[in-house]
Amino acid sequence: MTTQITSLEEYKEQYKSSIENPEAFWDKEAKTFTWFEPYKEVCKWDFEGPDVKWFLGGKTNITYNCLDRHIETRGDQTAILWEANESRKNGKNGSNGNEERSLRYTYRQLLDEVCKASNMLKSLGIQKGDRVVFYMPMVPELAIGVLACARIGAVHSVVFAGFSAQALADRVNDAQAKMIICSDYNKRGAKNIAVKQVVDDAMDLGCNSVSNVIVHKNTGGEINWSDDCDKWWHDHVDDQSTECQPEMMDSEDMLFILYTSGSTGKPKGVVHTVGGYMVYTCYSFKNVFQYKEGDVYWCTADIGWITGHSYIVYGPLLAGATTMMFEGVPTYPDAGRFWEICEKHKVNQFYTAPTAIRALMAKGDHWPEKYDLSSIKVLGSVGEPINEEAWHWYDKHIGKGNAPIVDTWWQTETGGIMITPLPGITDTKPTYAAYPMPGIQAVLVDKDGNELNENNVEGLLCIKHPWPSILRTTYGDHERCKQVYFSSFPGMYFTGDGARRDSDGRIRVIGRVDDVINVSGHRMGTAEVENAINEHDNVIESAVVGYPHEIKGQGIYAYVISQGKEKDDVFRKEILAVVTKEIGPIAKPDKIQFVDDLPKTRSGKIMRRILRKIASGDVDSLGDVSTLLNPDAVEKLMSNK
Ligand code: PRX
Repeated sequence: MTTQITSLEEYKEQYKSSIENPEAFWDKEAKTFTWFEPYKEVCKWDFEGPDVKWFLGGKTNITYNCLDRHIETRGDQTAILWEANESRKNGKNGSNGNEERSLRYTYRQLLDEVCKASNMLKSLGIQKGDRVVFYMPMVPELAIGVLACARIGAVHSVVFAGFSAQALADRVNDAQAKMIICSDYNKRGAKNIAVKQVVDDAMDLGCNSVSNVIVHKNTGGEINWSDDCDKWWHDHVDDQSTECQPEMMDSEDMLFILYTSGSTGKPKGVVHTVGGYMVYTCYSFKNVFQYKEGDVYWCTADIGWITGHSYIVYGPLLAGATTMMFEGVPTYPDAGRFWEICEKHKVNQFYTAPTAIRALMAKGDHWPEKYDLSSIKVLGSVGEPINEEAWHWYDKHIGKGNAPIVDTWWQTETGGIMITPLPGITDTKPTYAAYPMPGIQAVLVDKDGNELNENNVEGLLCIKHPWPSILRTTYGDHERCKQVYFSSFPGMYFTGDGARRDSDGRIRVIGRVDDVINVSGHRMGTAEVENAINEHDNVIESAVVGYPHEIKGQGIYAYVISQGKEKDDVFRKEILAVVTKEIGPIAKPDKIQFVDDLPKTRSGKIMRRILRKIASGDVDSLGDVSTLLNPDAVEKLMSNK
C-alpha cells in the first residue's frame, strides 16, 4: 500500500525527497503495487515532444490492483456502497417502491461482477485497445463496466449522461468506439430521463464504428430496439463465468480517454495510461482524504467527470477503501438528502463541489441541522474556486469546525489531486488550495515564462516536472496536446489557470486565463457554446463569456447578433433549445443579450476582456476602448444590457 503521511514533518520530508529525487520517491510508491513484470526504468520524459513515460517496461493490470489483490485481506469488506435515487423507495417513476435503496458490493462480489462483464465484452468481440463509450447514469453497472474494460485492456471513455446526442456522437466518432454501453432510462430526482433514446439519436447521426449498443435495464421503461446492434446487458452478462484473467498491460498502455473542453470548439480526448495513473490516484487518495481502515468515503461527483474516475472508482478501490456511489441529486426529495445519507452510512470523508455547497447553503441551515454529521472527519471541495462564504458555511454547518476542508485543485489532464491541504497535517485557509502534493513542482510564472519565486505574487500556474498521472496525449491529435499544454512555457506544463501565492507560500487558484469557463464545476469552452448558438439559422455571430454567478460560480453570458427575428424571449428559448441539442442542458446560457455589433480590434478579433467586464457589471474599469475598430459598440452594449 502506498505511504500515508501522518505529520507535518513527514509531509515536509516527503516533499523534499520527491523534488530532490523524484525517481527514487515514485519507485518506492510504485513498488507497493502488484506488477506482473517489474518496470525497468521509473521515468523518462521530454516536455518538448511531449513524451512522458512512467514505470517503463512494467506489466500490470489496474483491476488486479483494485480487486484481486484485496481478496485475501478484505474480500468481504464493502468495496462499493451504492445509494439509490429516492424515487426507488417512494414508488415514483414507475417504481414499485420496493426496490433496493442501498446495495453493497464486497470486494469479492465486485471482482465477480467485473469478470462477468469482462467476459461479456470479450464474447462480443471487444479486444485490447478497442474503445468502449459509456453513456450511463450513476448505477453500479457503470463502475463495473469501466473496470471490465480495464481488465481486458479495452479503453473506456465515459460520456456524462447529460450531454446531447450530437455531443455523444462527436465523442464516439473521435474515439472510433466499437461499442456503446448505456441504460434504458436514468432515474434523476423525480424524473425518468430517456438515455437509450439519446444513444439512438446519436447512432442516427452516424456512429459507423459502433457495432453494438449494450443496454442496462434500469427502469424497464419503453425503448426502441434495433435487432442488429442492441443487446441487453443482463442477457449477455448474467450467465458469464466469474473468472477472467486480467490482461497483461504495459504501464504505458492506454487506460482511458476522457473528453474535456478546451479553448477551441472541439473537445479533446485526454489520454491516461495504466501505471502512472494507478500509482498517483492511490497515493493521492490515501493522503488527501487520510482514509483509515473501516472508513466510509463519499465523493458526490459523477463518473462522467475525472473526479468520478479518480476518486470514486480507481483511487479508493486501489487503496482498499469503501467508496460510495450516489444515484440521486442533492435536492431530491429535499435539500437534506446529502446529510441524510451522511448520517445513514456514517460517512467519514465527504467530497463535493462548491456549486453544490452554495446551492444547499441557499436552502437554509436547518437542513444539515436535522442530521447527525458527527462521523465526518474530512470535507473536500473540487472543481472550481470555493468562495469564502461557502467555505465557512461548509466548515461550520457540515464539519462543525472539526473537519478540515481540503480544497483540492487539479484537472482532467492531471489525473489526480495536485494542490491541496492535507487534513490534520497542513493548515487550511479559506479559498486556498494551499500546498503542492509531494512530487508536484508547482510554480507561478509571468507572461514571458519567468518564474515568480517570491511570495505575495500572482501569476500563471505551471508544473515543472512530470508526475505519474500527467496526461500523455490528446487522442488522435498529439500536436494539440503539445500546443495547449507544453508550448506556452517551454519545459513546463501550463495549466491554463491563474493563481496567487500568499505570504506563507500557500497557493490560491483564481481561475482560467483562457477561453474556458467553469460553470457549476463543469468545464466549458466558450467557442463550443458559440458554435452551438451559431447553429440557429437567424444567428449571425455570437460571443460567449463567463460572469460571476451566485450558485454556479460562473454563469454563461451570450452576446448574439441576429437577423430576421424578433429579439424576444421566444427567440431566446429557441437559442437555448439549439444549445441543448448541440451540447446538452449544462451549456445553456444564463443570459442572452441581443446586440448589433461586438467590440473588435482593428484586426477583427472580438475583445472578450471588454465583454467579460460588461457581463460582470464591472464597467468602471473598461480601460482604453479608443483603439477599437468600433468604440461605439461598447457604449451600446452597456446601454441595452
Ligand atoms: O480552473 C481550474 C478548476 O477546474 C479546472 C479543471 O477542470 P476539470 O478538468 O473539469 O477538472 C475538475 C475536477 C478536477 C481547473 O483548471 N478547478 C478545479 N479545482 C479547483 C479549481 N479551481 C479552483 N480551486 C479548485 N480547488
